[in-house]
Amino acid sequence: MSERVIIFDTTLRDGEQSPGISLNPGEKLEIAHQLARLGVDVVEAGFPAASPGDFEAVRTIAREVHGPVIAGLARAHAADIERAAEAVREADRPRIHTFISTSDIHIEHQLQSTREDVKGSARAAVAHARSLCEDVEFSPMDATRADVEFTAEVLQIAIDEGATTINIPDTVGYAMPDEYARFLTRLYELVPKLRDVVLSVHCHDDLGLAVANSFSGVQAGARQVECAINGIGERAGNASLEEIVMLLHTRAADLGFTTGINTREIARTSRMISRLTGYPVQPNKAIVGRNAFAHESGIHQDGVLKERSTYEIMDATTVGLDANSLVLGKHSGRHALREALQELGFSVDGQALNTAFKRFKEIADKKKQVSAMDLEALVTDELRDELRAYTLSWFDVEASTRRPPHATVELVTPDGQTVRGDFTGDGPVDAIFRAINAATRREARLREFRIDSVTGGQDALGEASVVLEVAGQSAGGQGVSTDIIEAAAQAYVRALSNAERRVVAAAEAAEAEAADPQLTPAP
Ligand code: KIV
Ligand code: ZN
Repeated sequence: MSERVIIFDTTLRDGEQSPGISLNPGEKLEIAHQLARLGVDVVEAGFPAASPGDFEAVRTIAREVHGPVIAGLARAHAADIERAAEAVREADRPRIHTFISTSDIHIEHQLQSTREDVKGSARAAVAHARSLCEDVEFSPMDATRADVEFTAEVLQIAIDEGATTINIPDTVGYAMPDEYARFLTRLYELVPKLRDVVLSVHCHDDLGLAVANSFSGVQAGARQVECAINGIGERAGNASLEEIVMLLHTRAADLGFTTGINTREIARTSRMISRLTGYPVQPNKAIVGRNAFAHESGIHQDGVLKERSTYEIMDATTVGLDANSLVLGKHSGRHALREALQELGFSVDGQALNTAFKRFKEIADKKKQVSAMDLEALVTDELRDELRAYTLSWFDVEASTRRPPHATVELVTPDGQTVRGDFTGDGPVDAIFRAINAATRREARLREFRIDSVTGGQDALGEASVVLEVAGQSAGGQGVSTDIIEAAAQAYVRALSNAERRVVAAAEAAEAEAADPQLTPAP
């Protein structure tokens, strides 16, 4: 009999805390739908108290995404817990996830509090959360650097107050696999009631051990793993969902664990997250890297041609990496596009289908064949536009080796005003970026810029990714076009819109914290 491991996805919460990631509500909703298709058991949709935007995003996901449990994060603080409860209330199966640190380093320096106060806050938080929601998860933050006896006392309190899942975070990615397993085993000894709730693991990758530690936790008895697609998250990130899932899947006969994940959705989910966050996947990344199933040496190629299992422990089709045969051309109609999008998991109708069709025709005029990967890139690109953002109307760029490049742009501001700017830069991309700064009168500083191609071939779509900083807030944006200057300009304008939203959200959060000094900083 195999045992089921619950997959708790935190791409939209811990993952979204990665620097430069700024997902808009439409993007978050699309990701949550894809996570449901992937078959995750729990979607941690966000941290509702962080800002009104985060609250709305969690509430929309709770209303519209069916299947997984929808969790909202809350500090051990009444106002946060009430916000989280309200945000997840309409979910089919809501969960509140509340946390407070148990390590002395955090208690003394961050919370500036005492162990006794932490016990009191944990008790009050779990009791309050349970009065608002049946399903409550409690995390002793920085547990792996905390005193195990004190952490056990806090867990006993959380369980007595009704916590249904206990999560043990390796917040700073410090633990080693055997040490983490011993920590969990000791907690089981000190808190026998831990066997009556779900034990969960949440590991960060600062030493590259997040997946190994999570796996070690499962072997020690944990039956929930918190992880993120492509391993994104704070600093070095969280345990990568695809790696832990494929480890349990590939070695199922030896380990005896199953998950509810539809592994054939893994590659597509990974591409969607990479595209919407602007975080590339390293080519040699396990499971989803471009080279994860590529064989370079002659001996390996020869072996795989004779028998795949000579050098492959997994079949690429198991993770959804089969060569997709879906191809449309410029004569394909609206109906064919709708069917193709449906096959890719996007249900697009009405105005959204009209917009997608217009965009598809523009691309199909320039490219002979539009593949499944192109369609995915186009649909995710459409999701990026939203209200309260700058939009690019047009641009002119003069590029030459004999004169400095010059760009002129016209934009519409979030208030609906038309503005123009021009600039003579070091290169055409520099000129257009600075022309956008001139038009918007913003001092945005470029931090990262990347161009990739969506597929191979001379007529491939270009995908640009920009991270910039405005008033101390960094944010990213992406753009897709057959013209890389246009893709770059779109990416810059979107990054600017996202950064401005962050500046407003940070000001609101600072105001809230000034009004209530009891609030600890967000995780
Ligand atoms: O890493 C961490 O400790 C967290 C908690 C909020 C669970 O993300
Ligand atoms: Zn974390």
